[in-house]
Amino acid sequence: MKNKLFYCLLISLLSSVSFAEKMNTGAPLLHGAGDDKTGYETKEYKTNSKALTTRVGQKANLIALVKQPPLGLPAVPVPSNNPITVEKIELGRKLFYDRRLSLNNTFSCAMCHVAEQGFSHNELATAVGIEGRSGRRNSPTLFNVAYAEKLFHDGREDSLEQQVWGPLLAHNEMGNPSPAIVLRKILALNDYNGLFKAVFNKPLSMETIGMALATYQRTLNSANSPFDQWYFGHNEGAVSPSVKRGFKLFAGKANCIACHTVKKDNALFTNNRLHNTGHGFRVSTQPRPAKQFITLAPGQTIEIDSDLFDSVAEKKPNDVGLYEITENTEDRWKYKTPTLRNIALTAPYMHDGAFKTLEEVITFYDQGGVPNEDLDPLINPLHLSNSERSDLLAFLNSLTGSNVDQLISDAFAAPVGDIE
Ligand code: HEC
Ligand code: HEC
Repeated sequence: MKNKLFYCLLISLLSSVSFAEKMNTGAPLLHGAGDDKTGYETKEYKTNSKALTTRVGQKANLIALVKQPPLGLPAVPVPSNNPITVEKIELGRKLFYDRRLSLNNTFSCAMCHVAEQGFSHNELATAVGIEGRSGRRNSPTLFNVAYAEKLFHDGREDSLEQQVWGPLLAHNEMGNPSPAIVLRKILALNDYNGLFKAVFNKPLSMETIGMALATYQRTLNSANSPFDQWYFGHNEGAVSPSVKRGFKLFAGKANCIACHTVKKDNALFTNNRLHNTGHGFRVSTQPRPAKQFITLAPGQTIEIDSDLFDSVAEKKPNDVGLYEITENTEDRWKYKTPTLRNIALTAPYMHDGAFKTLEEVITFYDQGGVPNEDLDPLINPLHLSNSERSDLLAFLNSLTGSNVDQLISDAFAAPVGDIE
């Protein structure tokens, strides 16, 4: 019982930081982890977190990002049966930030897809949902999700309209036992009174909830990065020579472009397909370390046996990627190629958030991934020099969109649904 309590405390500590905003208002950019954990292992550590109510933001013209996406992106695919309107975006945005959509009124979509953390979650390798219930995968970014042909790390869903019911109903995400319960909850909220009817000319339903949430997410388009300004905008001064050399490696010797696609006049940095890089293979086959180190509070790190940890924590189920959907053995450890746009903002990396930095990802590819029976033939050892590694890193860091702050500010301006 004591152990359980300690674990709950740990998880709530970990998940509560996303409420907070960085104090450092001198910084020009709004993004970043909720709290700067530098020095957390020492007693001198002081929190920088601020209350949610102190966040201020300005509403953005979101529909413009769909009608005229930023430089470097193709036209936004919008399903003909769910056209974009300003009112629908607004309703979807309200739902996205509304904590009352979870079973116990605590958890919104935005708490795993945190706007200021690249619409992903910088502080958790794998997601944690209501009541500290843990998941096995990393929260992917929602920037440019409008272009994703396959959704989830294993590509099991292909429509944003349908996808929303995954997290709404998942036991370890928003925890609602059935769609009817979600509908009843929203029906009981006065501030939604008449909104669905006004937007869709149809009542609140599973379908209209999906359509509204999908519509908001379709506006989160971010490009016109320094890379785009150079490569598509022909502004030679937009990036450093190192970025240009890094792109040459990306498209040449390292052949990253074979999966992280760049076209002639736009780039999504994904081929929308699934591949075995060996990372999943390693995670599900490597033995667990015997000990775990946990920092409970500033200056208080404890060491516990992994067996004890397993007995109090919910053990993560094995993850075999696409195989779980197809049951075809060749599909073991295949995961979706993620976009690389805004990659500097969306650490940690890979489907399980195992890599904390882009340097670690580059090392992984430099070594040729992890050899296994079904390793993708496009993954090979690269033998990069130190300067090639830093050029590749500079290139990856040049992919941050110019409107990121605008989208974060818009998120800060959104209403946070809460019980009265
Ligand atoms: C508890 C954390 C959590 C919550 C809450 C949550 N998500 Fe997610 N989301 C995730 C994780 C983790 C994944 C990846 C899961 C997988 O691949 O199996 C994901 C995947 C997605 C994807 C697929 C993205 C892609 O590129 O494949 C979309 C879209 C999405 N979530 C939207 C939402 C919406 C909308 C809500 C609210 C209704 C929501 N999420 C609530 C953690 C969360
Ligand atoms: C065979 C296709 C393929 C090639 C080639 C490839 N990647 Fe990837 N990349 C993937 C897949 C698939 C993932 C996701 C793996 C996972 O989730 O476990 C990924 C993940 C990443 C990530 C982490 C993204 C995130 O949001 O977590 C980065 C960064 C990355 N790749 C960069 C590169 C670079 C740099 C190169 C060239 C050195 C490269 N990739 C070559 C398919 C590829």
